[in-house]
Amino acid sequence: MLTDTFGRRFYYLRLSITDVCNFRCQYCLPDGYQCDHDRKFLTLPEIKLFAQTFAKLGTEKIRITGGEPSLRKDLPDIIDTCKQTDGIKKVAITTNGFKLPEHLPSWLEAGLDALNVSIDSLDTNQFKLITGHNKLNTILDGLDTAFAEENLTVKINTVLMRQFNFGELERFLAWIKSRPVSLRFIELMQTGDNATFFGEQHVRGETIKEYLLKTGWLPAIKDKTAGPAQEFYHPDYVGKIGLIMPYSKDFCQSCNRLRISSLGKLHLCLFAEQGHDLRPLLAENDADAIADRITALLGDKKVSHFLHEKLTGATKHLSMLGG
Ligand code: 5AD
Ligand code: SF4
Repeated sequence: MLTDTFGRRFYYLRLSITDVCNFRCQYCLPDGYQCDHDRKFLTLPEIKLFAQTFAKLGTEKIRITGGEPSLRKDLPDIIDTCKQTDGIKKVAITTNGFKLPEHLPSWLEAGLDALNVSIDSLDTNQFKLITGHNKLNTILDGLDTAFAEENLTVKINTVLMRQFNFGELERFLAWIKSRPVSLRFIELMQTGDNATFFGEQHVRGETIKEYLLKTGWLPAIKDKTAGPAQEFYHPDYVGKIGLIMPYSKDFCQSCNRLRISSLGKLHLCLFAEQGHDLRPLLAENDADAIADRITALLGDKKVSHFLHEKLTGATKHLSMLGG
């Protein structure tokens, strides 16, 4: 098992397969995607080798991210490849869901276990204002199909923004009352590109936590392998609420994940100073050498991010690395 110098264990890989995104989320790509490289994203054989290597190192779960991962036509093959890898028990994706009704059947057929969809507003106009796309109803239709799938875990990611959705809390709660879903409010994080937006829009997740605790929501007991989200449940609600509060104390203590970028770099943290290029080793097709390099690099993983000091590392926006 991959373990760092602070005793944290890494059994979860976030694998970005493209940095291209068709949405223009205000906090991420407000001017749309702009490419600054030659788009040589990881190929299916490279992804297979990564999945095998990480599985040998104890990884049990792979989350496929982007940009928007479904912009790759071979996404079902990628899901299938990860799922077929010995040792990988769970394959998940994080998507904006822009074609969810059309895509979901092929993802399920490929063996998808878990689906995270980003929804920052349940109001169609507001959704369009945030993302640049009028896709809320399509996404909600796709989610209805997803909820009916017994073996699929569904989560919603909602980035908290003071002026865009903070007033919608009651609406989100009403929506999860009868739906089997975990809705996770994510504190807006500062990245290289969004400093002004961050300053205007950041809201502390603690505010939501205080409200939940006052209105009968109860903190769920945390599994020791669980990641940094804090979960809450309510006897009158089918759905759950998760809070992801990267600015809270000790957030990084439960870090359980490593990241590979779509260009094949290992990122020890979402906000690390740099990624470590593993592509030359991939080209040699030597899983043991890649595993040794990852293990050695893990020795440099820092105890936490430096977001409090406004140090955002190499991450200009999260489309680069899939959050
Ligand atoms: N702060 C918080 N969350 C973000 N995401 C993208 N950029 C940011 C940011 N700056 C979210 C997306 C998606 C997940 C991968 O990360 O909305 O749900
Ligand atoms: Fe695309 Fe996700 Fe960034 Fe929105 S947050 S622009 S969906 S990568």
